[in-house]
Amino acid sequence: MAHQIAVIGGDGIGPEVTAEALKVVRATGVDLAAKEFDLGGARYLRDGEILSDSTLDELRQFDAILLGAVGTPDVPPGVIERGLLLKMRFELDLYVNQRPFSGTAPGHAEPHDFVVIRENTEGPYVGEGGVLRKGTPNEVATQGSVNTRMGVERCVRYAFELAASRERKHITLVHKTNVLTFAGNLWERTFHEVAAEFPDVATAYNHVDAACIYFVQDPHRYDVIVTDNLFGDILTDLGGAVSGGIGLASSANLNPARTGPSMFEPVHGSAPDIAGQNKANPSAAILSAARMPAFPGERQSAERIRQACAEPVTGTTTSVGDTIADRVRD
Ligand code: IPM
Ligand code: MN
Repeated sequence: MAHQIAVIGGDGIGPEVTAEALKVVRATGVDLAAKEFDLGGARYLRDGEILSDSTLDELRQFDAILLGAVGTPDVPPGVIERGLLLKMRFELDLYVNQRPFSGTAPGHAEPHDFVVIRENTEGPYVGEGGVLRKGTPNEVATQGSVNTRMGVERCVRYAFELAASRERKHITLVHKTNVLTFAGNLWERTFHEVAAEFPDVATAYNHVDAACIYFVQDPHRYDVIVTDNLFGDILTDLGGAVSGGIGLASSANLNPARTGPSMFEPVHGSAPDIAGQNKANPSAAILSAARMPAFPGERQSAERIRQACAEPVTGTTTSVGDTIADRVRD
């Protein structure tokens, strides 16, 4: 039976890269029934729709959601990001954002291979806070970070389970426990309590600023990293930059409880500066699509796509898509 995929191309280069991703997955022989959802900045400017509750309910019925990118300079920052992308992450309870990085960092001879598990429904992304006396000299703005024991624990446990399944069985908590003492302490205690259930997994801790140095100078130390929403956002751009470029960085927004579809999207943004020019590298979207639910017999398709993307391809968006599609075709 065809897999039912909701496709949200979104803004900027988003629709260009999702088109190539669908092309490549189909070239492996996987049967996809894709339904396009016209959402994003352009749609918002046309009729005000960002993501209605009825559209959200429709999305719940799909096997997976493939997203290109959201955000456009024509709309104030945050409107589409919060109203569309974050609304899906929160409402569909996509509490794990899994971002793998393999490549050889600049100045290194050996490839690294690590995965960042980013908590995806809490932290500073929740939108806690507000503004008072806006536009006056006495303006006050607060923006809190919300961390729940349940939210931290389910993310940390997912990361430990992943680490236990990998060869190295190593996990690093990244936070800023020396400054963010309330949230950091909750993360640290939870991490150690869950660690007790996984005696075979070795643990480490890095402050997020130090982790930035290690990503560049010593990425081989990492196997699985678990971190909060905002640190994970920032670190995964750096992860892309040291692993062959952000054009290759894929991500999966997962609902591990499987109470609904998961969402697959490249780490990169909508890149409005190169939109519509057939210039964007579709590899990150292709690799993200390859991570959509693999059904029996289709794991090989995902592996074929990963191998096809491992050998660098350059060219236009469509020619890169065509080349990778040719490589995976049986
Ligand atoms: C990402 C993006 C989003 C984020 C933006 C577009 C809201 O940067 O997926 O990494 O901050 O999570
Ligand atoms: Mn980001």
